Amino acid sequence: MRKHLIAPSLLAADFTRLAEEMEMVNQSEADWFHLDVMDGRFVPNITFGMVVIEAMHRLARKPLDVHLMIVEPEKYIESFRKAGADVLTVHYEACPHLHRTLRQIKESGAMAGVALNPHTPAHLLEDIIEDIDLVCLMSVNPGFGGQKFIHQTLLKIRKLREMADTANAKTLIEIDGGVGLQNAETLLQAGADVLVAGSSVFGAKDPVATISALKAFNAVFDC
Ligand code: DX5
Ligand code: ZN
Repeated sequence: MRKHLIAPSLLAADFTRLAEEMEMVNQSEADWFHLDVMDGRFVPNITFGMVVIEAMHRLARKPLDVHLMIVEPEKYIESFRKAGADVLTVHYEACPHLHRTLRQIKESGAMAGVALNPHTPAHLLEDIIEDIDLVCLMSVNPGFGGQKFIHQTLLKIRKLREMADTANAKTLIEIDGGVGLQNAETLLQAGADVLVAGSSVFGAKDPVATISALKAFNAVFDC
């Protein structure tokens, strides 16, 4: 059975204590750091860029999963890779030449991810699924942490799982937005491989224990 990954999103961390928050994740059972880059154009919010990611990279002892919520991401792939990104995820809606952009990410040496907004159907990835290392399904509208999980995402996970299995692709399915102890098991059972968790981890009384609890859930697979 595959074991899922947990990727705490630093968007919900206390940035006045960033080093401490990162050390908490380093010492936890978390697998990746999820870093949300927003440009104020693709999404109505602005966060941080490569200068901050470069600093985070020096503090991180786990891979950096960088979620680019920006227009024209192809302009910055090499810079984010140089800053320390191990996974680079671009939005389907921001990439008119997705195949080329994915190739660019892989050539940089990072894993190539594609994120889908809640309204973007999973079947649009059918002809390119084999070239994608990770699909990030947005289960909230991107731009902000702490939003409510959009339940239609469940159906999308199942469709995507089936699509990847049919194509014999090793694509990971990541769920981003509104994920917590209340829905983690259902998401895993639907076929999710990576759970991003922001406010449910950093807003918890005991973030380390919450990460362990998210990691401990088991998925049930038919195969
Ligand atoms: C939203 C970001 C998410 C966000 C998730 O645009 O992509 O990664 O940090 O936050 P929570 O887990 O609080 O919904
Ligand atoms: Zn994200």
